[in-house]
Amino acid sequence: MEQFIIKGGKPLQGEVKIGGAKNAALAIIAAAAMSDEDVTIENIPDVRDINVMLLALQEIGASVNRVDAHKVIINGKSITSFDVDYEYIKKIRASYYLLGALLGKYKRAEVALPGGCAIGARPIDLHLKGFRALGATCDVSYGLISAKAEKLRGTHIYLDKVSVGATINIMLAATLAEGKTIIENAAKEPHVVDVANLLNSMGANIKGAGTDVIRIFGVEKLHGTEYSVIPDQIEAGTFMFAAAATHGDVLVKNVIPKHLEATTAKLLETGCEIVEYDDAVRVIATHTTLQPTSVTTLPYPGFPTDMQPQMTVVLGLAGGVSTVTEGIWENRFKYVDELNRMGSNIRVESNIAIITGVDHYTGAEVSAPDLRAGAALIIAGLAADGFTTIDDIHYIQRGYEHIEEKFRQLGADMELVDSEHDRQKFLLKVG
Ligand code: EPZ
Repeated sequence: MEQFIIKGGKPLQGEVKIGGAKNAALAIIAAAAMSDEDVTIENIPDVRDINVMLLALQEIGASVNRVDAHKVIINGKSITSFDVDYEYIKKIRASYYLLGALLGKYKRAEVALPGGCAIGARPIDLHLKGFRALGATCDVSYGLISAKAEKLRGTHIYLDKVSVGATINIMLAATLAEGKTIIENAAKEPHVVDVANLLNSMGANIKGAGTDVIRIFGVEKLHGTEYSVIPDQIEAGTFMFAAAATHGDVLVKNVIPKHLEATTAKLLETGCEIVEYDDAVRVIATHTTLQPTSVTTLPYPGFPTDMQPQMTVVLGLAGGVSTVTEGIWENRFKYVDELNRMGSNIRVESNIAIITGVDHYTGAEVSAPDLRAGAALIIAGLAADGFTTIDDIHYIQRGYEHIEEKFRQLGADMELVDSEHDRQKFLLKVG
């Protein structure tokens, strides 16, 4: 069983390069299959969720040419199946993007229903509301969602709740609908804009992505293109918080600083120094005494829920009481029990974590309950005295590419181990 083992207590120093945004790339891969010409996508992260999505496209007949770890050429001309029901696809939530993409292109799709997950119930009612408004009939039975339509017609859709997934999925389907679709109360996340930009470069006509009203003027078909995925703001933020928690000095390269504004603002409140460049952000916390603060997760441009556990780890080391309110998911504090085993003092009441800062964490054997919480436990391990072992790292590998190598480049003592032998080797190496 693979584990991460970390000897903590070293301030991180140096530079780290951020990869492409997983959550943008997942939707972009689905969108690419909507053309019968080659779509070349660069800057895809080499992580498990992406690899599963590519495999799913291959299974339905699309041509997927993985040029290298970060570049793929997709051609949807050879798609022969509209049913996506493979064991592995159920494990990634973003499989639902195949529904919007196939419904848009072929007017029919059947995709295994993504289940609930560690961060709470994950309904898809808004996706279905959008498809139905476009004229599709949708059915959920036997664990599958099927959607079909004679033709899709542009319409006016109001999303009752801001949803990244529903916004993108409706946008995918509406791109090849007849006439104009308006999505109101749309999500404004950078990856919504990235998917719209890709679709527009394939010949779609989408306006307003990045605002809360998106207008999609349906086109007949989409052509090939070359596109590069935006940098991953969550991976970037994870390294920024790791710099803060370890009192390090880290230059986080290949980012769009504008996408990191909420993260940067909160780090400034904790007393860190931030220097922004055109495509990099430096976090200096070498002499910082971390200050407590409050944070609430909200849709973009609010503080991202996917940075919530990492922020909590930093505030757990601040001198005073902080609060972290989870505004998106109902159950995203599962990791707190693990963190408390590392010496933090955190109490969760409903959707609020009340954090009384401690002087230091202590290493322990912990388990990653989900992707971002797993990343947060790594940060805690890097800041802690002694050794931390993290189990269930497959969650972390879903969304972070070679995270152990990137932290090692910053001076961390961290290894991915797969046996007692590897573990002993690491212990001998770091003393
Ligand atoms: C995306 O999930 C991300 N996943 C999540 O990242 C992220 O936490 C989330 O957006 C919020 O930013 C991907 O992009 C693959 P939503 P998504 O639809 O699109 C409710 C990670 O760690 N809702 O914006 O599924 C829902 O319950 C993952 O990389 C409905 O009520 O999230 C939630 O409260 C974890 N009905 C809120 O909206 C719906 O039909 C926002 O969810 C859909 C959503």
